Amino acid sequence: MPLVRHVGILTGGGDCPGLNAVIRAVVKSAILDHGLRVTGFLDGFAGLLEDRRCELSFDDVSNILTQGGTILGASNRDNPFRVPIHGPDGVRHEDHSDRAAETLERHGVDALITLGGDGTLSIADRFARKGVPVIGVPKTIDNDLSETDVTFGFDSARAIATEALDRLHTTAASHHRILVLEVMGRNAGWIALEAGIAGGGDVILIPEIPFHYESLRESILRRTRRGRRSSLVVVAEGTPSPGGGSVVRKLVEGSHEPVRLGGIGSVVAGELENLLPFEVRYVVLGHLQRGGSPTPLDRILGTRFGVAALRAAVDGAWGTMPALQGDRIVRVPLADAVARLKTVDPEGERVAVARSVGVVFGDERRL
Ligand code: F6P
Repeated sequence: MPLVRHVGILTGGGDCPGLNAVIRAVVKSAILDHGLRVTGFLDGFAGLLEDRRCELSFDDVSNILTQGGTILGASNRDNPFRVPIHGPDGVRHEDHSDRAAETLERHGVDALITLGGDGTLSIADRFARKGVPVIGVPKTIDNDLSETDVTFGFDSARAIATEALDRLHTTAASHHRILVLEVMGRNAGWIALEAGIAGGGDVILIPEIPFHYESLRESILRRTRRGRRSSLVVVAEGTPSPGGGSVVRKLVEGSHEPVRLGGIGSVVAGELENLLPFEVRYVVLGHLQRGGSPTPLDRILGTRFGVAALRAAVDGAWGTMPALQGDRIVRVPLADAVARLKTVDPEGERVAVARSVGVVFGDERRL
């Protein structure tokens, strides 16, 4: 077993509630359980490339459990394996991963704990394959990493989206409107599906289930015939518009996943207003879903993941990630976690349950 004395930690990708809970757990358990030093690298992999860091003491992580964001800063565009170099002939990309690994060696860091989603953990996996001592921790509001039942951050985002639906219900009902809520989740429909069930959405549109406007129109008119004068529609940002594909908001150069989705809420609202005799409005929840204090579940999960990640580092279990399976925290290979996106099963139990309580997905043929 390798002797680990000094642990590094960084937070990559988009921020989310629970990052500070993991940082706190790593630092406290490093100091209390193992007597180790911890260095935080700032702004994700940029901190490794540019050698920007800070020592993390017990006091530094006191009182951060409930704070959203990350005390280390984050970046979702710095990939050491593909650094953009701007020259007279345009932009080319270079592999600077050796430089990043040298930063660890120069400071005697024996293990690097990387908190991130699909993009960050794919980079972490590449470092592990190069022989860099890396452990991952599964973070993302999108809940789209394989091998773990859930990622930390998802529960908080789901709670915020649910509360948004609760609030939209009242205006939809008072004004007899259709209200469309666009939520994040990239190409997975977890936030839309689960917040939609929890918040009593009437229509849930997700990337995994192609929808048709005619089907939506019929469903909403049928609700009207039953005396329902308002409807709530939840749409995941990655849901393709029928015949039009995903709605892209912008492209971010240098990002592992450059496409930023957004805009399907307004497209759906516009189409529904043309098809139905109702006033239709839309709300884009955006980064509100990533902000604020983590839920108790994310605080607990983040703490469990942090302690488990530190334990994996002490054991020299490089290239692994703690994962929640059932009620147990287990170690899984990073490569397996990022091998494929975990998306909603259109034939799965959650979708079936939603249909059983009358939720419409827009793919219904016979109404
Ligand atoms: O992966 C988390 C996430 O919030 C996605 O749900 C969303 O598509 C993306 O990040 C937004 O990224 P940015 O903050 O760069 O716009």
